[in-house]
Amino acid sequence: MAPAVRGIFLEFPLRKCIHFLLALMTAVIGYVSTGGSMAQEQTNERASFRVCQDPNNLPFSNTGGEGYENKIAELFAKELGLKLEYYSFPQRMAFIRNTLRYKLPGENYRCDIVLGVPAGFDQVSATKPYYRSTYALVFPRKGPLADVRSGDQFAALPPAVLRKLRIGLFDRSPASEWLARRGLVEQGVPYRILNANPDQYPGEIIEKDLAEGKIDVAVVWGPIAGFFARRVKTPELVVVPLKSEPGVKFDFEMAMGVRYGEKPWKDEIEKLLIKKQSEIRAILASYNVPMIDENGRLIGSADQAELFARPTEAVPYRVVDGKADNSTFLGWRIFHSSCAGCHGTDATGTGVAPDLTKRVKDMPRSSFIATILQRYNVVIREGDAASESASREAFIEQILQGKAGRIAMPVWEGDPNVAPNVNDIYAYLRARADGALGTGRPGLLESGFR
Ligand code: HEC
Repeated sequence: MAPAVRGIFLEFPLRKCIHFLLALMTAVIGYVSTGGSMAQEQTNERASFRVCQDPNNLPFSNTGGEGYENKIAELFAKELGLKLEYYSFPQRMAFIRNTLRYKLPGENYRCDIVLGVPAGFDQVSATKPYYRSTYALVFPRKGPLADVRSGDQFAALPPAVLRKLRIGLFDRSPASEWLARRGLVEQGVPYRILNANPDQYPGEIIEKDLAEGKIDVAVVWGPIAGFFARRVKTPELVVVPLKSEPGVKFDFEMAMGVRYGEKPWKDEIEKLLIKKQSEIRAILASYNVPMIDENGRLIGSADQAELFARPTEAVPYRVVDGKADNSTFLGWRIFHSSCAGCHGTDATGTGVAPDLTKRVKDMPRSSFIATILQRYNVVIREGDAASESASREAFIEQILQGKAGRIAMPVWEGDPNVAPNVNDIYAYLRARADGALGTGRPGLLESGFR
């Protein structure tokens, strides 16, 4: 089996990480104890900065020096006053063995450093990590996902919307598990990592299939997501970084790798990583690599903010001097009659239901609608079947007095008042959430309200 594995390192995160890390622990211990035999006599005089690279693997590296690892290599070589040299070899299964660790008897090694390996990668002596990125969703700014700004919001889209999506992902990536947990396996369009065609590259999923509408959204490793999403001009694409959750690891730290037993060289590189930290950051940012901190928060430049920004959603209300448009006013009225009993007259919450001015602020309309119409079920204490016939007021009264069972959000799908006007309610709540409307009954902006 000699499949052309493109980007073995960057795709490391696609692999079964737990197993890998376990294997890694033992492997590292093994290496340490046999370290002496692996170590090579250190050449004190280093004539050049010799990088092991993939000849064609943007945004990481290529023979034209266009990748961000090339830029970092230039930075380091210059700092060390060394000539920069590359030894290129396609990143197949045995990349490290064929580059960093390749040496014929009586010959010297071909190159001395790999600039992008996952932190702790056991085939090399990995430096301290120098950036952390994460998998991301990439999709057109305008379209069915326009409101989505996070993985949670994506998952909270109405089932009818989700069911229609074609979600491109690499096989064995953490995205598979993430989709499986949300019942979206059917929507997945798998792409193979082990691809025999050397002209193919991981960015194609974005540059070709997403851009051409063959898929609606792609889940890819951050550096690929940011770089290729920015290269596509039509349709305009957005990158939404994903957060790891228990059982699904999306974020990974990246480091550099040298041979075991070459500690002075590794120390030198680690010093450079610290000294040149801000320049490295700037290089990564210029390639639109989504960089995150240990809490999963995005860090980066203003230029990136645009690519990673929330898609602009039209403000759903119009308010001038405390007066609202008809829809927003109608929303207030319905809120007042159907929702205020639990959520409070000003939507700021009661003992039984949450403050909606806080919740709705970050809730895209589609999630709001799904929540209101379908998500919740009322669970009434046993023997208290009166709710069906009881008027809503009486029911809410019951709840407020603690007579009902576990309180949950009622389902409003069949409600003749709520369902058709759910957008109006949303407009009102967004106006409240954004602070455009204060408490109480809003004035009317337009005449002719029925
Ligand atoms: C019977 C009491 C009750 C009524 C009436 C009610 N809600 Fe709720 N609502 C709740 C409770 C309790 C929660 C929080 C628990 C939950 O999420 O199930 C909630 C949650 C919500 C949430 C979700 C917040 C989140 O972060 O997920 C929204 C939005 C909401 N309500 C809107 C409304 C609207 C709009 C109406 C009127 C059409 C309404 N509610 C009427 C009890 C109620």
